[in-house]
Formats: sequence, C-alpha cells, structure tokens
Amino acid sequence: MSGHGEPIPMTARASGPLRGTAEVPGDKSISHRALILGALAVGETRIAGLLEGQDVLDTAKAMRAFGAEVVCHGPGSWSVHGVGVGGFAEPDQVIDCGNSGTGVRLIMGAMATTPITATFTGDASLNKRPMGRVTDPLALFGAQAHGRSGGRLPMTLVGAAAPVPIHYTTPMPSAQVKSAVLLAGLNAPGQTVVIEKEPTRDHSERMLRGFGAEVSVEDGPEGRIITLTGQPELRPQTVAVPRDPSSAAFPVCAALMVPESDIFVPGVSQNLTRNGLYLTLVEMGADISFENPREEGGEPVADLRVRFGPLQGIEVPPERAASMIDEYPVLAALAATAEGSTVMRGVKELRVKESDRIDAMARGLEACGVRIEEDDDLLIVHGLGAGGVPGGATVRSHLDHRIAMSFLCLGLAARQPIRVDDGGPIATSFPVFEPLMRGLGADIDRD
Ligand code: S3P
Repeated sequence: MSGHGEPIPMTARASGPLRGTAEVPGDKSISHRALILGALAVGETRIAGLLEGQDVLDTAKAMRAFGAEVVCHGPGSWSVHGVGVGGFAEPDQVIDCGNSGTGVRLIMGAMATTPITATFTGDASLNKRPMGRVTDPLALFGAQAHGRSGGRLPMTLVGAAAPVPIHYTTPMPSAQVKSAVLLAGLNAPGQTVVIEKEPTRDHSERMLRGFGAEVSVEDGPEGRIITLTGQPELRPQTVAVPRDPSSAAFPVCAALMVPESDIFVPGVSQNLTRNGLYLTLVEMGADISFENPREEGGEPVADLRVRFGPLQGIEVPPERAASMIDEYPVLAALAATAEGSTVMRGVKELRVKESDRIDAMARGLEACGVRIEEDDDLLIVHGLGAGGVPGGATVRSHLDHRIAMSFLCLGLAARQPIRVDDGGPIATSFPVFEPLMRGLGADIDRD
C-alpha cells in the first residue's frame, strides 16, 4: 500500500525502442537541504527546480511547523523565509515525514540543539527504519530522544538547552547521519567535527558553505574530516536545484534494457559522490556519451546520450557503494538483462532503506525467472541477456519507490508483463515517472 492511500497497481509490458528526451525532476537530496537551510537562514531564500515529490513536500510542511514561511510560487519555484540558526519555534503538531528517511533525520539534526520539543512520525516504511543512527550522535550534543523500542518512530526529540559541539566518526557510510550532525552543529558553540571513513554525498557541506557557514573538508588517515564552525548567521541564497541523477537512472537503465533505444537525458549530476552507477554502466559496456560538461546549481553536470547495446555483468567495486547506494535496485534489474553475473558486495545499507532492498529485489527477480544469490551484505544477479528475462509476475514494492520503478523498467524488456502491486510510492521522489516514461515510448499503465 502507498503511504496513506490505496495501493496503485501498475503494469509494464515489452515496449518498442525508447526514444526522445528525458527531463527528470530536481534532486531530492538537494531539495530537502535547500528547504532546511533556507529555514535556518535569516531572510528569504529562493529555490528554482525544487523536486515536488511527496518526501520534499513533507519537509516543506515541517519547516512551516518550525516557524519558517514556505511558499510555492509556481512549478518548482519556491521561497523560504527563514528564522535563523537557533530560531526554530516549537511545533504544535506531530511532524509527519511520510516515507522520507532523509527528511526526518535531517530535520531531527536541525532541531536537536534548540531548546524545543518535537514529535516525529512517518508511514509504515519509515516507522520501521532505525533512528538510533542519528539520535546517538544527537544525544552527545545534549538532545534526548524518546522513541519506540529499537529506536523507531514515532519519537519525541527534546532539543539541548545548552548544546556542546561534538567530534563524531560515523559508524556507517551515511550522508543522512553526517548531515544530521552538521545541522545540529550549527547551533552549538565552537567546532563540530564529523569523520567519515568512506565519502558520502557532499551536498550538505557544499550548501552550508553556500549559505555562509564555515566548513572545511580534509582527507586524513581515518577518512574524510569535516569541520563546521557553529553559530554562524546563515545568509539566504538563490538555489537552482540540478536534476536528480538517482531519478535519471531509471530512464537510462530502461534504455539500456530495451533494444534499439536511443535517449537523451540532460543535466545529470557528475558529482563524484553520486555518479557510481554511471561508472558502473560504462564498465558493463554501456553506450553512454557524456556531453557538454558544465556546472549547474553548484554541481558538475553533463548531458547523457544513451543507446541500447549488449552489456556484460561485472563485479561492482564495494568502495563505490556509497556513490550509488540508491541505484542498486535498478542496477539489479538491468543486470538481469546483461550477459553473465553482476556481483554487488558491501551493500548491507540496502537492508535499511525504504524497504530491505536486497530482499525486495531478490524476491522480485526470482518471481520474474531470474536466478540470484544473496547474503547479508551481497547480491549477485545471474543475467539472462537481452530479451532473456521471462517476467510474467506480480512483485511487491514494499512501500519503496525505487523497487517499484526498477521492476517497471524491467517489465519493458521482459517477455511477459511485470506488475507491481503498488506504484503509489513513486510519487515520493519521481512524480512524473509515468508520463515521462510513456513519452519515451514505454508501455506502463495503471490497472
Ligand atoms: C540521502 C542519503 C542516502 C540515500 C538517501 C538520500 C541524503 O541515505 O540513500 O536516499 O539525501 O542524504 P543514507 O545516508 O542513509 O545512506
């Protein structure tokens, strides 16, 4: 079932070549951060190209509940009148972050060093996900979390009245945890330091600097060391949100699965902390050209021309996992249409996403006639080659947008249709997925 509504079953059928231009919407990670930092700045931030997916709309609503004025002026065009670092008001309602782990974890960080109390909840997927990974470091600042057993939502967070800055090494590669600590560090006096053993997406560091915070990043023997000087006055910005490389992954991989496809995907981020899928596709032999490299909204981007061609399974380097963590589901679907096996190691973080993505992909692929192997930290997909996937199954999306979209893409290249029990969650990150894919020639329908 989709978050709060009725399930929306969808079916994808074998399609002719995908052709045309896929203009994917704004980046989800950057959209959340633009709203939150806008709310913490003094004055008016303007945002162009904001992703209007449900996850981001829930963050916009939360920022209003904390006292910021958030206004939509037209498609993608938003303004946020911020209250300043430490200026959050105590919300008089429960903060419902819906399906969004990024939303809830970053907002908890942003309020943890202000002496207010807020209660957070989410949908059935979010309420199963671990929050201890953020409330543990937030407790070191002096905040107190009271949640369900296992550190789950619903949870009440009592912000620290006299916050102290912290030095924290993230125990898992997680940009959400890093960002929660940095956002909490904003209202702590002195320097907050986060060390990450493996680099994760760096949008918070980039955007904090853009808003005028002092942030330094160095590579040391233990990993990447990020130092933030607390209690800055954040200056409002004009933020142009670039397109989301994680959303672009769906039309790109679909074009690589459907014979004779040839599509153009403009403005895809080449940020080194986000581009792991694209490196992997090239290693598999994909015909992708990266045209017109340039900077957009402070991020390096290129236009992608993607043409179908035979692909070979590979062993994905585990150290690449953080830079493509959201792309493993669609890579697993694509791997089913490649020759040979694709080995994905070092991927246990997939077990705590919107669903257990190793399990959801493994069960769905098996139902579609694809042989897989898995363990706690590993997924291997034994490819059947182009046109080799039987399909003909209904798979469960487990309230997970990326599982739903991955199987709908695979359905375009399978011999028999693939039905997804609930495509409703797609609206959390890629609300125009269906019309965009249909515009390229994909046969995707609601039941
Ligand atoms: C995100 C970080 C990643 C990613 C999520 C967005 C972010 O989560 O999976 O979709 O915007 O910081 P983790 O930090 O848990 O790896």
